[in-house]
Amino acid sequence: MSVSIKTPEEIEKMRIAGKLAADVLEMIAPHVQVGISTEELDQICHDFMVDVQQAIPACLNYRGFPKSICTSVNHVICHGIPAAKKILKSGDIINLDITVIKDGYFGDTSKMFCLGKTAGHAERLIKVAQECLYLGIEQVKPGNRLGDIGHVVQKHAESNYYSVVREYCGHGIGNEFHQDPQVLHYGKPGTGLVLEEGMTFTIEPMVNAGKQHTKLKADGWTVETRDGRLSAQWEHTLLVTASGVEVLTARPDEAF
Ligand code: MF3
Ligand code: CO
Ligand code: CO
Repeated sequence: MSVSIKTPEEIEKMRIAGKLAADVLEMIAPHVQVGISTEELDQICHDFMVDVQQAIPACLNYRGFPKSICTSVNHVICHGIPAAKKILKSGDIINLDITVIKDGYFGDTSKMFCLGKTAGHAERLIKVAQECLYLGIEQVKPGNRLGDIGHVVQKHAESNYYSVVREYCGHGIGNEFHQDPQVLHYGKPGTGLVLEEGMTFTIEPMVNAGKQHTKLKADGWTVETRDGRLSAQWEHTLLVTASGVEVLTARPDEAF
């Protein structure tokens, strides 16, 4: 495993890419309404990235992924493929995962949206998953270790009787989509890689209402809960700074 330390020039490019990814989530929010298809959401995001941001949608053609964003509805954990026939209905929950490339550098972020009237249990799952991300982010500072992040995420999910997906994880990020290290969303405090100033990686916990187990659909991408229960995910791209952390994909509604 080789974990790169980004130069000040690289960090500036990652700030720009991170801001653009966050801006896509802000832009798309008013469009996430009952009756729209996930393909329409993909199209709007694609056109915004390409035409307005002059950025590259990183997902498009990544290892054969056919669309520009991931749209994961209800029991879909991650990597849902936008489709014209997938029309959002009241009560649905959806994760939109956006990754942009600008000037050769990547920004990767996702958030949950609720459609119409959402069940209380679904809102609670979404809230706890977001708290898992924020608790993980609080652990990011030089000298702390990756196991400290995984531990707080796992502890918070499990103390709410939810489970953490094991097969997919956060990742280093920079001038490639997925770099070392792997950032697990479970683990033991005081173990794993020691964080250093200049590292950049994502935290992106996938929290299941039921059991942790996953099932890959025949399309080769869509990851679902095996038990068919709901799943929620939130993601940010992070920079380890001298004093702690900078959230490169922070939105205006978030205070870090
Ligand atoms: N954005 C996802 C992540 O957080 C990866 C999506 S890969 C795709 O790592 F091909 F499905 F788009
Ligand atoms: Co990611
Ligand atoms: Co992502």
